[in-house]
Amino acid sequence: MADTKQLWDRYQSQLIVDERLGFALDVSRMDLDDALLAQHAALTKKAVDDMAKLEAGALANPDEKRMVGHYWLRAPQLAPTPELRAQIEDTLGAVHRFAADVHCGRLSAEDGGRFANVLVIGIGGSALGPQLVADALGGADDRMRVFFFDNTDPDGVDRVIEQIERAGGMARTLTVVISKSGGTKETRNGMLEAQAAYLARGLSPSLHLVAVTGEGSELDKTAVSQQWLARFPMWDWVGGRTSELCAVGLLPAALQGLNIEGMLKGARSMDALTRNPDVKQNPALMMALCWLKATEGKGKKDLVVLPYKDRLVLFSRYLQQLVMESLGKQHDLDGKVVHQGIAVYGNKGSTDQHAYVQQLRDGVANFFVTFLEVQKERAGSSIEVEPGVTSGDYLFGFLQGTRRALYEGGRGSITLTIDDVTPHRLGALIALWERAVGFYATLVNVNAYHQPGVEAGKKAAQAVITLQGKVVEALTSAKAAVTADQLAATIGESAETETVFKILEHLAANGRARKSKGASPCQARFTR
Ligand code: PA5
Repeated sequence: MADTKQLWDRYQSQLIVDERLGFALDVSRMDLDDALLAQHAALTKKAVDDMAKLEAGALANPDEKRMVGHYWLRAPQLAPTPELRAQIEDTLGAVHRFAADVHCGRLSAEDGGRFANVLVIGIGGSALGPQLVADALGGADDRMRVFFFDNTDPDGVDRVIEQIERAGGMARTLTVVISKSGGTKETRNGMLEAQAAYLARGLSPSLHLVAVTGEGSELDKTAVSQQWLARFPMWDWVGGRTSELCAVGLLPAALQGLNIEGMLKGARSMDALTRNPDVKQNPALMMALCWLKATEGKGKKDLVVLPYKDRLVLFSRYLQQLVMESLGKQHDLDGKVVHQGIAVYGNKGSTDQHAYVQQLRDGVANFFVTFLEVQKERAGSSIEVEPGVTSGDYLFGFLQGTRRALYEGGRGSITLTIDDVTPHRLGALIALWERAVGFYATLVNVNAYHQPGVEAGKKAAQAVITLQGKVVEALTSAKAAVTADQLAATIGESAETETVFKILEHLAANGRARKSKGASPCQARFTR
């Protein structure tokens, strides 16, 4: 562990600053040295070279045989063909025009009034970015209020609709349904729930609905056949978790009235900074190298993300998906079983100092931290909570104190500093992490751009729904009350008796079956 003098020297020599981006990366508490940089020089060069190929249009997602083009979204001139460039530019133009039409009332609600709310329906990469941006950049001046359905929880849906009803109602709500594949069940269910809510109020769903999806997808076909207000494309060369800067994120943000050009510009500038082959000048490459050191390239330590800013509370959640869905892979690119990944969790400081930071300071040292510092305290001036001291001074003090205490306890940390939370800075942060994840994937030789585990989860849920259909059918035709064992045997699914029992309990809890006591809890009898 370095002493304070060594730390100050290291801080000065390792700090990466970009004043135009209002950004700095400090890795002094990660104990990197030149020997380590030299040891990994060939690997970091490969990461830069692979990234250059990816940006030039290589099939960088080999499993799905797809290009990976999220960097072109903010620099369309880099797209490998004129057609792709035109698609990106046309879509951006369409997003701006649509938002302007909604804001000025050219596109109005059914009653002729202006739309006041946006309900965004999506999940995973089709929700986490829009949620982060809405929360980080939103405020009292927003042109429209934004709500989300990001699950298939009926009670969750009801709660959101109640909030919408208190904010102008469904009549004044535009609904944007987002799904790259267009077949995700949670999103499909959310769409059906929204349509039912419109119908229950005597409204025409099609006059409220907009789709963001792949051309020809199930959702796209629905939008065409039901004549929705508009459709925006989502391309197979943009991954869900890197889709914030295509229509997925830009449309909700533009409707909210946020500066989407600022976000794109910030991302573009960060992309330029992080193309630098010199690791000492490239914050994304430096972060990836820190992760490699901390985790030994094997996920041995978790990454705790601690933004000391309420506006960035969702950043930890956003990064959890970006990092874990990208890096958490069973096989490497050579097909070898590796079980790669880095676990990410976090919330915000200083709030978390009154929760799990206790363990970070004193407990098991199985993590490293990324602090996110925002220099600007607030838009206006601050009161003094003590002579000469503001609330923001305390926030700053807590961050610095925690960082120091962790290091003294042998726990490493990275500190990212931005001057303010603006569209430009948020776009830059998103771009920084996207590229750090891409670089790290090369360092540990995994495909960051597919998600076989997510697809497997979708299939597993569908299998349960299919089994539920058989259970309901058998229960309906049963002459007497049956146990799960009996019913599973009847439908030829004895191996699935536990799932059959859980389905019966689920149906009974929701008034769709009746349950009577059995010899033991699992021998309960069920009827329709
Ligand atoms: O990042 C991803 O690829 C996933 O999290 C998807 O975004 C998520 O599964 C939703 O998929 P879709 O956008 O196809 O509905």
